[in-house]
Amino acid sequence: MPVSKSAPFDLSAWVSARSKAVDQALDRFLPKATARPATIHAAMRYSLFAGGKRMRPALLLAAAEACGGKAAEAMPLACAVECIHTYSLIHDDLPAMDNDDFRRGKPTNHKVYGEGIAVLAGDALLTQAFEIAAQANAWPRYSHRDLMLEIARASGSLQLIAGQVADLEGEGKELTVPQLRYIHERKTSALLCCSVRLGGMSANCTPTQLQALTDFGYNVGLAFQVIDDILDVTQSTETLGKTAGKDVAAQKATYPRLVGLDQSRRIAARLTARAFGALKPFRGRAIALEALAKYLLERDR
Ligand code: IPE
Ligand code: IPE
Ligand code: MG
Ligand code: MG
Ligand code: MG
Repeated sequence: MPVSKSAPFDLSAWVSARSKAVDQALDRFLPKATARPATIHAAMRYSLFAGGKRMRPALLLAAAEACGGKAAEAMPLACAVECIHTYSLIHDDLPAMDNDDFRRGKPTNHKVYGEGIAVLAGDALLTQAFEIAAQANAWPRYSHRDLMLEIARASGSLQLIAGQVADLEGEGKELTVPQLRYIHERKTSALLCCSVRLGGMSANCTPTQLQALTDFGYNVGLAFQVIDDILDVTQSTETLGKTAGKDVAAQKATYPRLVGLDQSRRIAARLTARAFGALKPFRGRAIALEALAKYLLERDR
């Protein structure tokens, strides 16, 4: 894989600075925890600030940087994708879906607030995402309409929701690799790809750059879910901050189940290599994106 020619890039410092900025912006965008009705705002904030890795905002901001954009321009979109991601996790954990008790190192939303409020906290975060995204600037090449369509399509019933439907319907079934890929493309890769694209759009990127970011995001997004499947088997609940071994217990369709751990690792590495390849048009200027792709392949949580 290409190594950047200049001074070593400190990804951990880069991510923590961006995560802090994202957290501050989210805190500004969201209603206060005491705003009436306080239960819902406390529940929204509970999951949002529970300690997620903030990888979608990080990818979005890294894509913006690669295209010469400013973080302030990208920030509303970075917050919007994190709200959508967090909503999807709250609902994913519900007893009617994956029935999980731990998330981001804490009891899941419904364990603390009850199922009714958890459903509503998810609904509210999804809606909040559009309210925040609507506050982003438009750019010469990308209108507000383009931004809204981008987010709505990635989160809608043909993408993220489609993946979640197929994931539920795939439980206990022997799926083929193409069927599993269909799930992963939609439930995970769609929102990651959308995040990377929105970062480019916030920097008024060229069509060539947008295509490169799309290819990058698609492959990193698929690799992300393959690794998530692997970590469910290989890591502890403590490290993950969510209950390990749940996929086997629920007979989920996953890469380790279908092709084994070694082959799953090879597939994740191949997808990451493709993601690197997609960054060629940036000629070494997409340093943070490269570092993130490498980190996401090697992560342990
Ligand atoms: C978990 O996503 C859900 C998947 C799509 C695999 P993350 O691993 O990004 O979760 P957080 O945001 O760090 O909690
Ligand atoms: C979650 O996939 C995907 C979405 C929430 C859209 P998983 O069910 O594999 O995620 P975890 O393992 O619970 O984080
Ligand atoms: Mg799930
Ligand atoms: Mg789950
Ligand atoms: Mg998982």
